[in-house]
Amino acid sequence: MKLKNMSADEYIKKSNCIRLRLLETAEFIKAETVAITISRTTEVQTRTIIEACWRLGKNVVVPKCNPEQKTMDFRKITSFEQLETVYLDLQEPNPITTDSVKKIEIDLLIVPGVVFTKEGYRIGYGGGYYDRFLETYTKETLSIAFEVQLVDQVPIESHDIPVGKILTEEREIQCSKQG
Ligand SMILES: Nc1ncnc2c1ncn2[C@@H]1O[C@H](COP(=O)(O)OP(=O)(O)OP(=O)(O)O)[C@@H](O)[C@H]1O
Ligand SMILES: [Mg+2]
Repeated sequence: MKLKNMSADEYIKKSNCIRLRLLETAEFIKAETVAITISRTTEVQTRTIIEACWRLGKNVVVPKCNPEQKTMDFRKITSFEQLETVYLDLQEPNPITTDSVKKIEIDLLIVPGVVFTKEGYRIGYGGGYYDRFLETYTKETLSIAFEVQLVDQVPIESHDIPVGKILTEEREIQCSKQG
């Protein structure tokens, strides 16, 4: 994967560009509650985005996965200390110190993925967690990704739901008009 070849400096610079672009995006500005994942090493840095949300007075909710049902429960965090490492480098909200937030309260869902097409289709991490969640989610969606994560095509299945927008270090891509 090309992502692994990025230098630490490039990673920080590009992640910063993407964060600044997100901060200027209408869907983000309007959102009172933002759903986002805790980035792993090869993903656009989200901790600085989460800190920006907190500074702006937005609610930040992060997913707790239920592997049996392949569902996600988004829980509000106000500090990184409310996270716990579930396995490898995956961090999730501690269910004891965080409260669950209903789907209807999420104004903007930032959808993770490994690669994306300009049409907003993606390959995720293979659990179908987001595909299932998106089935009954009606508000705004977008993804943040490095240019190297853009591909011409991904295999599309009937359950795949494209995101509304993709933000990269170079541009904003409008994929589809939501709701
Ligand atoms: N809405 C759905 N209902 C039932 N099964 C689904 C649904 N979405 C995905 N699946 C199943 O879940 C598995 C993983 O799906 P897929 O490969 O699309 O995951 P992904 O998009 O990489 O993951 P994620 O959505 O968490 O980012 C597949 O076997 C798929 O058939
Ligand atoms: Mg999918």
